[in-house]
Amino acid sequence: MAEMINVALPKGRLGEKVYDIFEKAGYDCPAIREENRKLTFENREAGVRYFWVKPSDVAIYVERGAADIGVAGKDILREYEPDIYEILDMNVGKCRMCVAGPADFKDNYAKTLKVATKFPNIAKKYYSEKSRRIDIIKLNGSIELAPILGLSDVIVDIVETGTTLRENGLTPLETITDISARLIANKASYKFKNREIRRLCESLEKLVAERE
Ligand code: PRP
Repeated sequence: MAEMINVALPKGRLGEKVYDIFEKAGYDCPAIREENRKLTFENREAGVRYFWVKPSDVAIYVERGAADIGVAGKDILREYEPDIYEILDMNVGKCRMCVAGPADFKDNYAKTLKVATKFPNIAKKYYSEKSRRIDIIKLNGSIELAPILGLSDVIVDIVETGTTLRENGLTPLETITDISARLIANKASYKFKNREIRRLCESLEKLVAERE
């Protein structure tokens, strides 16, 4: 009998889009559509078991093998560099990682630049490549407040529509990288459940290509 594949899905809007794609690919699990607070769902016939996981935790579940595969944003993968295989660009959850600040921001190289972010490693790497001395202020959300209140000079954050920046009087200043959601696999699972994971990945690949 084929092995069950354990899938970590990111809770929220992105996860729902991702589940739609899995469903179209033949890995449906109707119970997941029901309104409830359950976190695990399985469809034995389709050979799949889903878990709803906090988006920033998907890579941890996959890296440690609690899930065989999962869907995580490239932002999280760049920030934490988990030891996993990245097997498919899902072409959803597209956005940019940017430096943002007031439109009239002028960098004063005589001073250490104060950068507020949820992504300290991405920010450190970006500025170290530019040899710019920075002070990282690690926040967990509502990053846009930091330059408004003088807590930081700029922010490094995700920009999707740009609405949050605009409504807070800020603007994107530099793009660090493009982001999208990626299908990732645990390294041991990829070996031992290779046939099942490859088959799922190929079914997803066709649907993802149609979205382009
Ligand atoms: C993200 C990000 C921005 C916003 C960008 O926040 O940190 O605040 O989305 O989206 P936009 O360009 O479409 O306005 P998230 O919703 O994850 O909430 P958080 O601030 O609590 O992290």
